[in-house]
Amino acid sequence: MTYTPVSAMKCFLWVVLVISLDLSSANSISSYNHYRLPTALRPQKYYLRILTLLENPDDLRFAGSVQIVIEALENTRNITLHSKNLTIDESQITLRHISGSGSKDNCVSSTSVNPTHDYYILHTCRELLAGNVYKLCLPFSAELNRQLFGYYRSSYKDPVTNTTRWLSATQFEPAAARKAFPCFDEPGFKASFVVTLGYHKQFTGLSNMPVKEIETHESLPNYVWCEFEQSVPMSTYLVAYSVNDFSFKPSTLPNGALFRTWARPNAIDQCDYAAEFGPKVLQYYEQFFGIKFPLPKIDQIALPDFSAGAMENWGLVTYRETTLLYSPTHSSLSDQQNLANVIAHELAHQWFGNLVTMKWWTDLWLNEGFATYVAGLGVQQFHPEWHSRDKGILTALITSFRLDSLVSSHPISRPIQMVTEIEESFDAISYQKGSAVLRMMHLFMGEESFRSGLKEYLQLHAYKNAEQDNLWESLTSAAHQSGALDGHLYIKTIMDSWTLQTGYPVLNITRDYSAGTAMLTQERYLRNSQIPRAERVGCWWVPLSYTTQVEKHFNNTGPRAWMECSNTGESVPTTIDLLPGPEEWLIFNIQLSTPYKANYDARNWKLLIDTLNSGEFQSIHVINRAQLIDDVLYFAWTGEQDYDTALQLTNYLQRERDLIPWKAALDNLKLLNRLLRQTSNFGSFKRYMKKLLTPIYEHLNGMNDTFSSITQQDHVLLKTMVVNVACQYQVGDCVPQALAYYRHWRSEANPDENNPVPINLRSTVYCTALGQGSEEDWDFLWSRYKKSNVGSDRQTILSTLGCSKAVWILQRYMEKAFSPKSGIRKQDSALCFQAVASGQVGFLLAKQYMMENIEFIYKYYYPQIRALSSLLLPFSEQVSTMSDLNKFRSFANDSRHFLKGIRQAMQQSLETMLTNVQWMDRNYQHFSRTIQHHL
Ligand code: BES
Ligand code: ZN
Repeated sequence: MTYTPVSAMKCFLWVVLVISLDLSSANSISSYNHYRLPTALRPQKYYLRILTLLENPDDLRFAGSVQIVIEALENTRNITLHSKNLTIDESQITLRHISGSGSKDNCVSSTSVNPTHDYYILHTCRELLAGNVYKLCLPFSAELNRQLFGYYRSSYKDPVTNTTRWLSATQFEPAAARKAFPCFDEPGFKASFVVTLGYHKQFTGLSNMPVKEIETHESLPNYVWCEFEQSVPMSTYLVAYSVNDFSFKPSTLPNGALFRTWARPNAIDQCDYAAEFGPKVLQYYEQFFGIKFPLPKIDQIALPDFSAGAMENWGLVTYRETTLLYSPTHSSLSDQQNLANVIAHELAHQWFGNLVTMKWWTDLWLNEGFATYVAGLGVQQFHPEWHSRDKGILTALITSFRLDSLVSSHPISRPIQMVTEIEESFDAISYQKGSAVLRMMHLFMGEESFRSGLKEYLQLHAYKNAEQDNLWESLTSAAHQSGALDGHLYIKTIMDSWTLQTGYPVLNITRDYSAGTAMLTQERYLRNSQIPRAERVGCWWVPLSYTTQVEKHFNNTGPRAWMECSNTGESVPTTIDLLPGPEEWLIFNIQLSTPYKANYDARNWKLLIDTLNSGEFQSIHVINRAQLIDDVLYFAWTGEQDYDTALQLTNYLQRERDLIPWKAALDNLKLLNRLLRQTSNFGSFKRYMKKLLTPIYEHLNGMNDTFSSITQQDHVLLKTMVVNVACQYQVGDCVPQALAYYRHWRSEANPDENNPVPINLRSTVYCTALGQGSEEDWDFLWSRYKKSNVGSDRQTILSTLGCSKAVWILQRYMEKAFSPKSGIRKQDSALCFQAVASGQVGFLLAKQYMMENIEFIYKYYYPQIRALSSLLLPFSEQVSTMSDLNKFRSFANDSRHFLKGIRQAMQQSLETMLTNVQWMDRNYQHFSRTIQHHL
């Protein structure tokens, strides 16, 4: 197939000259109403020409044409594809026959639409015949939208000229390519793309592939056509392009693809880290997967407006500024770790997702779970001192344990029909639980068979699509070959129990101390304690790793036995023998290799607690210390253990100096704080927290700027985290020190240049100062926000501006968050709202604001409804009375029209609120009494 610029041109020119119909209003409704495209046709190649007009801020738009080379696999009279919010000039549509036996040219007799599934259906004059190839040409145009999806506009202020500079960018995943050009917008329809961008010559055009040639525009003065090389076969959601006036920083890595990092000119000095780290990780994956990165170049670009965190478009990875740009003078260590993790995540997708893509969104977790898991390995490789593997897995488990203990959770692999359901799937289950079960498999299969299985899978399905069963097949054969898995076990049998079933199990482990055995049973773990036993059934294939006080084999993560399921899916109780005597503990799930909770008999808990509270606590692996904390606090919450046991265990934290157990503890204790802080017994809880925190606060030198002398990077994060909580509980000199730092900053003559607050303490200092501060304190920080040139700096400020306790200031801030003129971008509004809603005063305001303004908020985000779901989070943590819960229930019901795109998140929030109410009913009194004994 040769490219024919003349005919493409003709098809294209009309777009500019002809005023066309808006089809959405004029077309008849099609009777085709299945949520998947028909399979009679297969697109082979797209020639996409797009002219982007960025000169007139009042009329930012694009116009283009697409020629799709389509192969007919079956005879058909309809061409059904996706198109949304595009104006298509129907008078200029052409349909030509290209090859095959039925030689006559064809045409389009009429069109129809199906707005539910975004279908645009062309009815052809003559039947398209199987085995023949056709070329369909469609001219289209649209506004560059403000929705951050499809082909959209973005802008930034040029500080030199003080003018607004406009740019364009794409975000297509999961279903927005159809907003930029008519296409077969499902991941299974892979095709090659030849993209040609037209733009004013002051700009640069970027797309997935390198530039092939640039020509002057035939009629528009100072415009060019930039044609890019033909892409490899890929899914529509990975197509990307941007027209901008950015600068770039090249990276040089021998034998690697050409690698560039782009940002607005004034931020180019923040690209050094990404430009250095990106190519290194890319090379690491080439080795890890055993497959070279197949494109000749890769660009990463920081966009001022961006809906997600980042997007893995093949060869043109897009980011928020906060996830790509790093400033040594403004970004904290956790900002830096975050961006390393995001880069590693998106680059992992270049294999998992781009090269091999899921057949349908049901298997989205293969993309996201893998990228999440592998990112931890990628970062670990270049920053071993960050322990990103362990931290990544702990975060993954903590988040998925929480969500997945709800009845309203869902399986990793879930049926999907509507676009809103695809969007809902980008959640902790796909990312975090997905990553956790992949790690489980990695650990039970061992390095060699896991890697060789992956490699086979990637090679077998390269440039094609796959589903989870394909992965199981490759991994099973690798595991059988290497002997890592018994011949009678299949990866599919094991993994189906984790990916097709909702939830995770709790293993009840009861030791017989005289016989030296332990009996294991399993059931689903649920946070909602009113769910009867009969509804907790389920069986998971659990690889059993364990060790004892004598052995302490904490590096042995492989299974010593399996907890199996019968053919009918019932759990088979398992007995472990040859266990030590009654004076020694037993611990299951080495390094949390599998996502389950382990509950023991009282004696074993006591043995574990004694060791933790002795000088020997470090003889238990740091991840297992975190596990014990997380587990016991869950069990106390749901009543399997009492709070006396839980608090005896957490008591050992006075000695703990490691990040991971502290993270597990503080995440859980924060939930208690949210329930208790409005009660009369909060005083005792506060005293308990002070008791736990004081030793570590002092050990880390509190608020003093000792960062330059900290050799262990984990301690930087630990200090950041501890200090933040310490100020909330008024530990030591935390608050006065924070206020002093802030005063000092305020007295600087040039506070935008000189900030005396240590970078890693900024969040705590700002929040504490505003919590106690005046209007002037707030306005001072707001001015810094307006002037800051660094994304992570701006983000820190936005998330602390909600720390004020003044009702009117919070109200004003919330209104700013949803007003485009305020200077808060749409992408950041949820952060601001969350910041307000997580505070005790802000909670009440935000609740009222949300209930009264849901229609306005809905319209503000529309059609990006997913953002709405993140607004719910602070509420689900804080609603703890039946009457509040009922208010939310009726709100959910009354506003169902606005909330239907986040049905799942709403159910999860309501269920979480219910578990809070249950906690208050069942535990509040008992907890309040118990905590007295631990002060
Ligand atoms: N593929 C996603 C981007 C995405 C997210 C598209 C949601 C559509 C909806 C990308 O790979 C991703 O996962 N981004 C994350 C950041 C990542 C490091 C966890 C994000 O945007 O939050
Ligand atoms: Zn991802």
